[in-house]
Parts: sequence; C-alpha cells; structure tokens
Amino acid sequence: MLVVNHVSKNYGNFEALKDIDLEFSSGIYGLLAPNGAGKTTLIKLLATLIFPSKGEILYNGTNISTLGESYREILGYLPQEFGYYKNFSPKQFLSYIGALKGIDPETLEQRIDRLLKLVALDDVATKKMKKFSGGMIQRVGIAQAMLNDPKILILDEPTAGLDPKERVRFRNLLSELGRDRIVILSTHIVSDVESIANEVIMLKDQKILYKDRILHICKMMEGVVYETVISYEQVATLKQRVFPLSERQEDGLLKVRFVAKGAPEPAWTAVKPNLEDVFLYVYRDEMRGEGAL
Ligand SMILES: Nc1ncnc2c1ncn2[C@@H]1O[C@H](COP(=O)(O)OP(=O)(O)OP(=O)(O)O)[C@@H](O)[C@H]1O
Ligand SMILES: [Mg+2]
Repeated sequence: MLVVNHVSKNYGNFEALKDIDLEFSSGIYGLLAPNGAGKTTLIKLLATLIFPSKGEILYNGTNISTLGESYREILGYLPQEFGYYKNFSPKQFLSYIGALKGIDPETLEQRIDRLLKLVALDDVATKKMKKFSGGMIQRVGIAQAMLNDPKILILDEPTAGLDPKERVRFRNLLSELGRDRIVILSTHIVSDVESIANEVIMLKDQKILYKDRILHICKMMEGVVYETVISYEQVATLKQRVFPLSERQEDGLLKVRFVAKGAPEPAWTAVKPNLEDVFLYVYRDEMRGEGAL
C-alpha cells in the first residue's frame, strides 16, 4: 500500500501541489488533469526523483525517501520524455537498462523475451528503433519500466503520440498489468482512463479535487447535463444561459450538449453525465485559453 500524507511541493515560491492525501492499493489509477496541473510533479514525488516540501509518502508504512534502493527495486517508471537510443534494437536497449538495474543476466534474458511478447514487439526485437512508430517506442518504454517486475508501475502520459489503434492496444496491455500491482498513469485525455482506470484522480488548484470511481465522479453531475436540438440561430441565446459541452450537426440543425443549473426547458432532454462532461466542466477556466470550448 502506497500512502501520500499531507504532501506539498514548492518550486521556489510557487506551490505546485498543496496538501495532497492519497492511497493506492492494487489496480489502475488514472491521474487526469489538464496541462500544468501538477501530474508530473506528483509522479516524480512517487518515483523519489523529487521530495516533498511538506508531508511524507509511505510504502507499507515506511517513508519512501528512507527506502532508497529497495524502493527503486519495486518501482517501474516511464518518464513523460522517455530517452532511448535510436540505433539500439528493443532487445539491446532492454538488456542495457536491465544491466543498469542490476538484474542478473539469466533472469534478464527471460524477462526481456516475455516482455517483448507482452507488448507485442517480439517480431521486431532485433530491429533498430529508429524506424519505429510512436506507439512502438512507447511500448519499449513500458517494457523498460516493467523489467524489474515492479509492484508499483508509474507511467507519465504513456499514450502521448499514439494513434487510436495503438491506444486500444495500450489499454488492453494495462488492464493486464494492473491485475496484481499498483499502476498509476497520468493523462489529459479522458478516453485513456475512462475504460480502464479503477479510480480517477483529478487535480485542480494544486489540490485533489476527486479520487473516486468514475461512476461516482459522474454522479456528481447527475441532473444538470442536457441535450437539445436547435437551429443555428438559437445557439447564441442558449449559450448565454448554459455551459456548452459539445455540439454536432444533425440534419441542418445542431445537437447541443450542455450543463444547466435550475429548471430545465421542455425541449431539453436530461442525459447521463460522462467523464468527458465532468472534465470539460471542472476545467472550464483552465481550458478557455486553449480553444477547447
Ligand atoms: N522544476 C520546476 N521549477 C519550477 N516550476 C515548475 C517545475 N516543474 C514544474 N513546475 C510548475 O509546476 C506546475 C505543475 O507542473 P507539472 O509538470 O507537474 O504539470 P503537469 O500536469 O505534468 O503538466 P503537463 O500536462 O504539461 O505535463 C506548472 O505550473 C509548472 O510550470
Ligand atoms: Mg507532465
């Protein structure tokens, strides 16, 4: 069990995380928040690459900063910017990383074979990585993080640069890996966590906003999400009164999905909120400048 206890992290005068409390047991945790929310900071704290300004992180009751090497042995980590050697094959690269991690050669060779199969790279095991797609490189990164068969696997934006097909493959791989270990992955893409995360953690204003099952998070917006079909002329008026989530064309009209508090109009249909709705609504201020809405 991994426990984050009242952790704050300052960069100079800037407090990037404030009083974070979290608990992780086996399963997949999705750390979902927009750019700059503090995902990498939290992940680096969990990976002991940086240390809390206040508070502590405990693994089975012991502060991870005092565990040193024995914590690194149970940790697998894929950084947001993952460095690899273009002229290496996956096999060479994994052998190199494994040697650095001090895994004995025989165990290492068996693990590499098994992992390359698991991430479906066994057929290109000896091909140079310079010709690999983004998805293939990410899978090498995941294999590298899995080399020591970690009890805690932490992946910082592992789906960045993957195409839709690779995303699906990646989700399937993760569900497999999350069965008997703690898997924590960060993303700002809702669909990456929607189908696989047992729990979603959302950060806002440097604090934890939600840490819960997706179903429960979505429940909090029950009764305020609607859809209605209107003409283009009516859209501006509607948008003055509600918070628009999405819109799409339908037979020359627009189907608008939105959040409205207060009494609904007869033409509005209440719909079940999904995680995307929550994300767009919760981060409406953060994303305004990005043209997301
Ligand atoms: N080394 C640092 N020194 C100063 N400020 C930093 C440092 N690292 C991060 N920050 C700031 O802390 C905040 C959180 O950054 P962090 O990288 O943790 O966010 P993130 O959620 O991972 O963002 P992204 O989605 O862009 O990767 C940002 O405002 C960032 O500018
Ligand atoms: Mg980051």
